[in-house]
Amino acid sequence: MPQSQAGGTSRLPRHVAVIMDGNGRWAQRRALPRHLGHRAGAKAVRATVEGCARRGIEALTVFAFSSENWQRPGEEVDRLMQLFVESIDKEIDELHANQIRVRFIGDLSRLRDGLPERIAAAEARTARNKRMTFYVAVSYGGRWDIVEAARRLARRAVAGKLDVAGIDEATFGAELQLHDAPEPDLFIRTGGDHRISNFLLWNLAYTELYFCDTLWPDFDDEALETALRQFARRQRRFGLTGAQAQGHE
Ligand code: FPP
Repeated sequence: MPQSQAGGTSRLPRHVAVIMDGNGRWAQRRALPRHLGHRAGAKAVRATVEGCARRGIEALTVFAFSSENWQRPGEEVDRLMQLFVESIDKEIDELHANQIRVRFIGDLSRLRDGLPERIAAAEARTARNKRMTFYVAVSYGGRWDIVEAARRLARRAVAGKLDVAGIDEATFGAELQLHDAPEPDLFIRTGGDHRISNFLLWNLAYTELYFCDTLWPDFDDEALETALRQFARRQRRFGLTGAQAQGHE
């Protein structure tokens, strides 16, 4: 049985994972450049962090930039990186004051222009905060995450420090980027598309999926509440029968 239990319906997710889609269309509908959609999206990130922390959710992961997003036009990539830098500078004091731990996941070796230093400082400063962990996935891909984990295990096996027969889901999961988080209970994707887009491929195995048409910059507290209410009505079975899952309540 995964960390979360099957059964109950009136629950709050421990961990919410979000694909924040629709910034470009939000801007386009207002005849604005795409980067202003991302700026509006950053405000929705702030509101979502607040909303999750206020409700007592333990972890929030947002997909801010995928491995594939590097292929976007150079100007959009540069503007997004600049926005990440500015957002850390602007928000870190308040995140820390609110007892929120910040962690970045992804291939951070590809980041430049002051971002790696800011990430390291933000993580170090907030490392002991206990209220909620805010994971920001940057230069992240679910397949990359799995391949990296496999590489690390292989290196240890080649060095004679790991018995291959002893590799199981727990040892593998411990090598993944979100090794220190509970499994996501609720996945939210805004923007109307119904796909996972190489997000947390391993971790979403038993996650409840929620899709809405709202464009990310319009995702407000009411939209979060709607997603959480729908989650609370779902019966999670983790491969058991409905009756078995009820027995776990
Ligand atoms: C997808 O919308 C969104 C992104 C690739 C970037 C997400 C970044 C933010 C919300 C900025 C702030 C983030 C943090 C963590 C401060 P899209 O551009 O694909 O939209 P479209 O599908 O309408 O074109």
